[in-house]
Amino acid sequence: MSVPVLSPDAKGTAEAVRLLAAGGTVAIPTETVYGLAAVASNPGAVARIFAMKGRPADHPLIVHLASIDDIGAWALNVSHWAMRLAAACWPGPLTLIFERSPSVSDVVTGGRPTVGLRVPDHPLARSVIAQVGGLAAPSANRFGAVSPTTAAHVIADLADYLDGTRDAVLDGGSCRVGLESTIVDATGSWPLILRPGAVTAEEIEAITGLTTTREMGGPARAPGMLAAHYAPSAEVIVVEQGANFEVVGRTGYFGAGTIRADVEVLDAPRPYGAELIAAVLYARLREADSMGLDRLVVERPSATGIGGAVIDRLLRAANGSRRI
Ligand code: TXA
Ligand code: MG
Repeated sequence: MSVPVLSPDAKGTAEAVRLLAAGGTVAIPTETVYGLAAVASNPGAVARIFAMKGRPADHPLIVHLASIDDIGAWALNVSHWAMRLAAACWPGPLTLIFERSPSVSDVVTGGRPTVGLRVPDHPLARSVIAQVGGLAAPSANRFGAVSPTTAAHVIADLADYLDGTRDAVLDGGSCRVGLESTIVDATGSWPLILRPGAVTAEEIEAITGLTTTREMGGPARAPGMLAAHYAPSAEVIVVEQGANFEVVGRTGYFGAGTIRADVEVLDAPRPYGAELIAAVLYARLREADSMGLDRLVVERPSATGIGGAVIDRLLRAANGSRRI
């Protein structure tokens, strides 16, 4: 059965709210990537997300809130520096991990003592959340696939798993940022960055006056950060701008440089800047697979701003796709 695609207007939003309130699942646009949402206080609805994604039950979900004023209903012992961070960055692409309030369901937190919270910066998401309450939502892709940045990506991944009578996709066009939110563990005395994103370490340090650290240690703290999660089937090779590279089978090229005759060129932004690259990167990774490429060569952007997060995802994609 095909799944309804709701229009980005009052009628579509009202239908999304109705389905969610009834315990359904709706893929909603956010400024980062599309999320597969269910009402966070409805454990049965949230459990369906795991089945649809094929996601292990111990991987926690982010709860999306309408406003910073809702933190207290979900989290305990929120520090002053974390409040400053939330006030400066929300709505926006930042997730904060707090000690969870006892009322938060184990289904949402994967049984952990913590909960991830974020106020997304997208008018449709905010309108739906304001009407139906906090939404638990992972990225709206099958477990192990690249995050979706358009409604078409969601449908390509999840149409077979969504129920046409209970679930829907709310079409909000292309996501503005294009990479998942920065995740900061705010349970300690300083900001511990679990996943880089559009909000950078420099910005977090300027806002909090604290030195950040970066968690590099595997999936323990933020399960779901495995390299393969960012990898298309095509082998991803990351190169410096202008560097030479080897063509293997059908090779695609995404970069700033001049066009070579022996590669298939994927549309790249001009100028080749990190923000513009982030916005289209996941669409291009998906395109590499739909084109049936064997190898995709990507030129790295400069590491400033969101460039650090772009490089993080590219290196994960490269590691995850390497067929040794
Ligand atoms: O931009 C985003 O963050 C998107 C949009 C939809 O909001 N969401 C997203 O969700 O990327 P997901 O589930 O695909 O990735 C969230 C990551 C996972 O690696 C998860 O393990 C981690 O956040 N996470 C969530 N709650 C956590 C917690 N309490 N402690 C540690 N890690 C947590
Ligand atoms: Mg994800």
